[in-house]
Amino acid sequence: MLRRNFFLNKKLVIIVLAILLFGISFYWLVLHDNAPKSPTQTIVKANNPEVQSAVPVIDKAKYSTTDPASPWVVVNKQRPLPRTYIPTNLVTPNILLSEVTNSENMHISNVMNDALSKLVVGAKQSGYSLMLVSGYRSYTTQSSVYNGYVKQDGQIKADTYSAQPGHSEHQTGLAVDLGRSDRKCQLESCFGDLPEGKWLTANAYEYGFIIRYTKNKQQITGYSYEPWHLRYVGTELSREIYRNNLETLEEFFGLQLYSPRKTNSRLFESPSLAQNRLSSFNVSKDMSLSEKSVFGSKIIASKTHEFVLRGL
Ligand code: DAL
Ligand code: ZN
Repeated sequence: MLRRNFFLNKKLVIIVLAILLFGISFYWLVLHDNAPKSPTQTIVKANNPEVQSAVPVIDKAKYSTTDPASPWVVVNKQRPLPRTYIPTNLVTPNILLSEVTNSENMHISNVMNDALSKLVVGAKQSGYSLMLVSGYRSYTTQSSVYNGYVKQDGQIKADTYSAQPGHSEHQTGLAVDLGRSDRKCQLESCFGDLPEGKWLTANAYEYGFIIRYTKNKQQITGYSYEPWHLRYVGTELSREIYRNNLETLEEFFGLQLYSPRKTNSRLFESPSLAQNRLSSFNVSKDMSLSEKSVFGSKIIASKTHEFVLRGL
């Protein structure tokens, strides 16, 4: 009896061992390769130089952000261009134009000519017809555009949508305002709700452009939403900005953000010019103005603006 039990137990042990062995071999040969990778394996992969080289790393110093001819130049309310700067490589693009070919603003920098044509062709393939509304604007042209808006809306309002002379990206030739061929919502925020505007928002980065003044970043740029204003920066940067879920050049390059009190100040060359401008400055009742004299200049400041009246 005892002997029989011994043989039975031995048989049981052999069967259990055989099942275990089969189970281990099955796991090792079939399931193991498909098993989720452990954290250790992930780290090993990430440290593998071959894998790392597949992730694009952009050299932020590759192009200048201060040279007006650089594709990465950052022009904003705090960063003016030289008054005399005129791009040397202006061309008329071979796309639908809103004005006659030789108009100043029907020119763009040659650096973005190919990219702009490709973008327009890309839009066409999706069924949208885009037109050049405004490209290059000289310092002088920007002065008359800006001063016209100041006359029309007052300086506070004008500063939210028009760059002061020397502060417009249009002076670099690297910015374009695009619109529909039927001019619907031309230079109006409703352009962003049209299929053309939506297409640009979704696809411009693929061609080397960014929408420079987006809805979400008005506090950073200091300008209201301009779904039609495209800035050429090249695909390396436009895709990197997109990949990092960023929108502005200021965020990407870690530059000073818009600050109304500092950036809306204007120096007036003569008291009469200053008085003229001040008379078009509509101060609302809740804005208290403060005045002080510093080194022979009078500084009049409100919450959003600062006027420096030189030589008073
Ligand atoms: N409208 C943009 C800000 C410009 O005037 O350049
Ligand atoms: Zn523009």
